[in-house]
Amino acid sequence: GQFCSYEDAANVMREWNKALKGGNSAPILLRISNAIFNAMFAAEPSTRALFNRVNVDDMHSGEFHAHSLRVVNALDNLINKLHNADTLTEMLAHLANQHNVRDGVRHHYFHVMRDIIYGSLGSLLDSYNEDAWRNCLFGIFRGIAKSL
Ligand code: HEM
Repeated sequence: GQFCSYEDAANVMREWNKALKGGNSAPILLRISNAIFNAMFAAEPSTRALFNRVNVDDMHSGEFHAHSLRVVNALDNLINKLHNADTLTEMLAHLANQHNVRDGVRHHYFHVMRDIIYGSLGSLLDSYNEDAWRNCLFGIFRGIAKSL
């Protein structure tokens, strides 16, 4: 079924793609992902060690940048499929499997990250319709974390 209303999805996609200046801009994506990861590590310090394999000790390293881009490019792909529920459902199932196999990843952390995103997008995006984002991101996070 649908993840959020057609209108909410349209607002979320418009606001997100406007922040990315209509292109896939690595510096903007990295700024967004650094803000999210730093806030998550501050709120839930135990999450930091989950990213040792991708050199979280140096968040400016190529390894961590590459990881950050995998995450935020995935988020970009998910957001832009909000009007294609069948594809989005399959993308979420694939991401759920990728997280299920990682030791130490807990359902609760997805709530932490979700609340951080709700709280920080207002300053990261030029315009931010908070209700639309809450309605649409709920199903995205649930889709990845529901089987954790
Ligand atoms: C890896 C996306 C949230 C923990 C990944 C990968 C993607 C991704 C695309 C790479 C997959 C792979 O190569 O296997 C996302 C998205 C999220 C999200 C879109 C939220 C919307 C989280 C949260 C946690 C988490 C909340 C836990 C705190 C991890 C870990 C890895 C990972 C531990 C493996 C890192 C490594 O390569 O060693 N994520 N993720 N993710 N994610 Fe997430």
